[in-house]
Amino acid sequence: MKKIMDRERIKELKKERNAIILAHLYQRPEVQDIADFTGDSLGLSRKAIATNAEVIVFCGVRFMAETAYILNPGKIVLLPEKDAGCPLADMAEVEQLKKKKSQYPNAAVVSYVNSSAALKAESDICCTSANAVDVINSLSQKQILFLPDRNLGSYVAEKTDKEIILWPGYCYVHEKNINTNKLRDLKQRYQNARIMIHPECSPEVIGLADYVGSTSQMLKYAEKSEAKEFIVGTEDGLIHRLQKENPNKKFYSLSTICKDMKITDLKSVVTALEKMRYKISIPDNICIKAKRALDKMLELKI
Ligand code: 13P
Ligand code: SF4
Repeated sequence: MKKIMDRERIKELKKERNAIILAHLYQRPEVQDIADFTGDSLGLSRKAIATNAEVIVFCGVRFMAETAYILNPGKIVLLPEKDAGCPLADMAEVEQLKKKKSQYPNAAVVSYVNSSAALKAESDICCTSANAVDVINSLSQKQILFLPDRNLGSYVAEKTDKEIILWPGYCYVHEKNINTNKLRDLKQRYQNARIMIHPECSPEVIGLADYVGSTSQMLKYAEKSEAKEFIVGTEDGLIHRLQKENPNKKFYSLSTICKDMKITDLKSVVTALEKMRYKISIPDNICIKAKRALDKMLELKI
C-alpha cells in the first residue's frame, strides 16, 4: 500500500517539477520500475544529455549524478541519497594522479567514469566498462595511465597493443565478493549455464567467462543468446531486469550487493522531489575540464 502511494506521489511530483528519473541497473527493483530510463553508466550519460526535462533525479551513486551534472550545464541534478558513493571512485585522488603524471609525461590519462569530477578534470578522456577498449584504441599515445580500476585496466591490456599503466583501485563488490570458487560451484550446479562477467572482476574470474561486458551489454547478450540459463557475474540488481525481459530464461546470482546502490528507495525519491534535494554542485573550473574528457568519449560514438 505504502509503495503504491509512493509511486503515485512520484508521478505527480515528476510532472510538477518537469523531472526525469534515471536509474542504474543495480538499483532496487522498485526504483528501477519507476524510472523513465534504466541503463549502464554509458547509457545513462547519453540519456542525461538527450533529456528536455529541467530536473534529473539520478538513482545511482554520486559519480553518476556528477557525470549527468557535468554534461548538462544549467540543469538541476538530484542525488536522492547524499551518502550514495562508490568506494572504487574514492581510490584515486588528484594529488596522487598529478604525481603519477609527472612520472609518465608521455602517457595519455584515461579515467573510468567511476571517478571524482576533479579526477576527470585531470584526464585526457573518460571511458566506461562498455567502451574502455575502443576508447583506448582511439588514442594516438602508446602509453596509457588507466585509473582507478586495476581489473578493467588489465582486461583492456589483454585486448590492446598499448602499454597500460595500472592504478591499484578495485571494486569490492566485483573483486572481493566474486571469486573462482563461488563461480565454479555455481557452474557445477548449473552446467548448461553461460557465464557473464563484469570487467571489474579479477582476471582469474574473467578467465572463466563466456562473455565479458558492462551491465547493459550483458542484457543484450542474454537476450540474443540461444542459451536458457546464465550465471550473472555482477551486482545482484541486474537480475531484476534480466528476468523481466527474459521470462523464459533462468538467471543465477552470485549474490553480491553494492551497499551504496541499495540506499535509495521510493521514499528517498519522493523526498528528493518534494524538497529538491540533494542538488549536485561542482565548481565551474572543474566542470569545464571534466566535461572535455567526457565529451571526447561521447564524440567517439562507441
Ligand atoms: P556499468 O557501467 O557496467 O553499469 O557499471 C557501473 C559500475 O559501477 C559497475 O560496478
Ligand atoms: Fe562502485 Fe562497485 Fe558499487 Fe559499482 S558496484 S558503484 S564500482 S562500489
